[in-house]
Amino acid sequence: MKIGRNDPCWCKSGKKYKQCHESSDEKLAMMKKHGAEVPAKKLIKTPAQLEGIRKAGVVNTAALDLVAEKICAGMSTEDINVLVHNFIIDNGGIPACLDYCGFPKSICTSVNNVICHGIPDANEILKDGDIINVDITTILDGYYADASRMFCIGEISEEAKKLVAVTKEAVDLSLKEVKAWARLGDIGEVISKHVYANGYTVLRDIGGHGVGNDFHEDPYVCHIGTRGTGMVLMPGMVFTIEPMVNMGKEAFFQDAKNGWTIYTKDGSLSAQWEYTIAVTEDGYEILTH
Ligand code: MF3
Ligand code: CO
Ligand code: CO
Repeated sequence: MKIGRNDPCWCKSGKKYKQCHESSDEKLAMMKKHGAEVPAKKLIKTPAQLEGIRKAGVVNTAALDLVAEKICAGMSTEDINVLVHNFIIDNGGIPACLDYCGFPKSICTSVNNVICHGIPDANEILKDGDIINVDITTILDGYYADASRMFCIGEISEEAKKLVAVTKEAVDLSLKEVKAWARLGDIGEVISKHVYANGYTVLRDIGGHGVGNDFHEDPYVCHIGTRGTGMVLMPGMVFTIEPMVNMGKEAFFQDAKNGWTIYTKDGSLSAQWEYTIAVTEDGYEILTH
């Protein structure tokens, strides 16, 4: 059914269609006709959904802050899992990773040459010089917020420090690209250029994703891309940016026994940062970091 100009907008802003999405819908339809990928309406969060994701993000950010406060040499990755699991439950949330497609723990802990999806283990003890990514996703009142950070244990090598710094810089640079009418390829181009300029590689086949009403939604956010290509960004879209950056080659393999953990093929170190962000009219809002 065609929406009338004086009807309430489909986005649930409460405004009339003609004062809300009418003109941008027309522009998107034109872009689509000329071959651009445009977001389906279901990818545009309503104000109520944005508020829900924001609240999940507050708990998720606090969980990562707690890890930052406690993490140290001698702890096991399972200790971190228990710490975060209890914190999320105590704050009324649910750790999204637990039982997600059979994942056995509440968070991912990826140490050194593990790229992502490391499974917390009581026998894996953190030691001086390790780098670890802790990836946490909180469900609160049905809404999802997903973020990860790197943590450095004790004194780490200058090389490892640089890898961790460059990975975060790549995410922060890409945020400057995010705004209405930008393209997903703008993000991928900025990230891959920064990574390659520093002699590192970034995974093409594992990347960011829409998030909020579910754990993994459209679109796929590739961290390698070309400016001016890929899906058009519109206000209300919520997705992660989460590049996995290897010091060596991009090639990876999956743990055959647990079916989850992804390692660098060449054994080199890997780092990752992840934010959940919302697109706004003139930029972005970080929902969890
Ligand atoms: N949090 C991860 C992401 O950034 C997904 C982990 S899925 C799990 O998308 F099952 F491994 F936990
Ligand atoms: Co994550
Ligand atoms: Co994610």
